[in-house]
Amino acid sequence: MSGKTSKAIFLKAYPAGMPEPAGFEMRDIDVASPGDGEMLCRTVWMSVDPYMRGRMRPEVKSYIPPFSLDAPLEGGAVSEVIESNNPNFQPGDYLVDFAGGWKEYYLTKGERTQKVDPNLAPLSSYLGVLGMPGMTAWAGVTQILKPKEGETMFVSGAAGAVGSVVCQLGKVKGCRVIASAGSREKCEWLEKEAGVDVALNYKDYKNAGQLTKALAEAAPNGVDCYFENVGGMHLEAALNCIGFGGRMALCGMISVYNNKEAEPGPPNLTNMIGRGVMARGFIVSEYMDKAMEFAGEVAPLLAQGKVKFQESVYEGLDKAPEAFIGLFKGENFGKAVVRVGPDRA
Ligand SMILES: NC(=O)c1ccc[n+]([C@@H]2O[C@H](COP(=O)([O-])OP(=O)(O)OC[C@H]3O[C@@H](n4cnc5c(N)ncnc54)[C@H](OP(=O)(O)O)[C@@H]3O)[C@@H](O)[C@H]2O)c1
Repeated sequence: MSGKTSKAIFLKAYPAGMPEPAGFEMRDIDVASPGDGEMLCRTVWMSVDPYMRGRMRPEVKSYIPPFSLDAPLEGGAVSEVIESNNPNFQPGDYLVDFAGGWKEYYLTKGERTQKVDPNLAPLSSYLGVLGMPGMTAWAGVTQILKPKEGETMFVSGAAGAVGSVVCQLGKVKGCRVIASAGSREKCEWLEKEAGVDVALNYKDYKNAGQLTKALAEAAPNGVDCYFENVGGMHLEAALNCIGFGGRMALCGMISVYNNKEAEPGPPNLTNMIGRGVMARGFIVSEYMDKAMEFAGEVAPLLAQGKVKFQESVYEGLDKAPEAFIGLFKGENFGKAVVRVGPDRA
């Protein structure tokens, strides 16, 4: 036995509606020494992501199983290998995997794991712009929307981990980009740093009609590509402004994730028929075979400053529930990450 004790966060009960900090609990767990093929890892950074809310709804069938109430939560993390019985990983290696989130130490066989280089980019960026959210943005843009130069792209949730990369890829592809985000500060960053043409603060608009008017003014030739992160009035406004042959990448609909009852869908879906619109839902894992293509395109853009990113850093594992809940209140600006331990032990 390594005799390691690790702090780990458990869900006490599945939330109804908006999750609350009291629904989470930090406990001590014992972590055994690594067996054959296993590694003992120390979590450095962990990610909180909106999809985790879906794992708190055991009654809904999904692409990923619900969280267990009897085990620590799990999620994406950047970790350091401490001990290794796996010939592919040495102590001191850093890796990204799906096991390390919500805990300090854990064992893994390295099956859903990728080594990362701490000298190439900040470790936390492997959970954001160079990680799953960046890959999601890239897949939605390049594999689904396929924007052409001069087209207009509308992006909801535009200042977040996924949306901010979508906006900047849209600009790299030569689009007019209209972004929507929930504060003046986020909109200013989108226009001044991310280079979007117009950023709309959706909190200035009370309903889909008002948002439609603002979007129509910002996109006088209509919207060719819509990257959907939010749902609700954003989807309705996008459907009002979408042009003939428009494409929609349905990535997420965070505005409904905490609903207790299903809401009726947008009343203007029929616009899709007359305008020949294509809408495609997707999960990033569908495109994992293209991960090298993503890295080959986005890492150089990052190095050249053509893609910028923001992070909201929460200090300490005990802040993870707050970081997670903050996603549904717009408290994060860019990628929300939790520093669980120092970069170097
Ligand atoms: N399909 C996939 O494989 C995949 C992968 C990753 C993420 N996603 C989805 O992509 C979306 C963005 O994820 P992310 O990781 O980049 O999160 P994020 O945008 O970094 O954080 C969530 C943001 O959503 C906005 N938001 C929360 N509640 C809202 C509401 N009721 N109405 C409008 N905006 C709201 C908030 O920003 P504001 O301040 O602007 O309100 C918040 O900061 C989510 O829907 C997520 O589920 C899908």
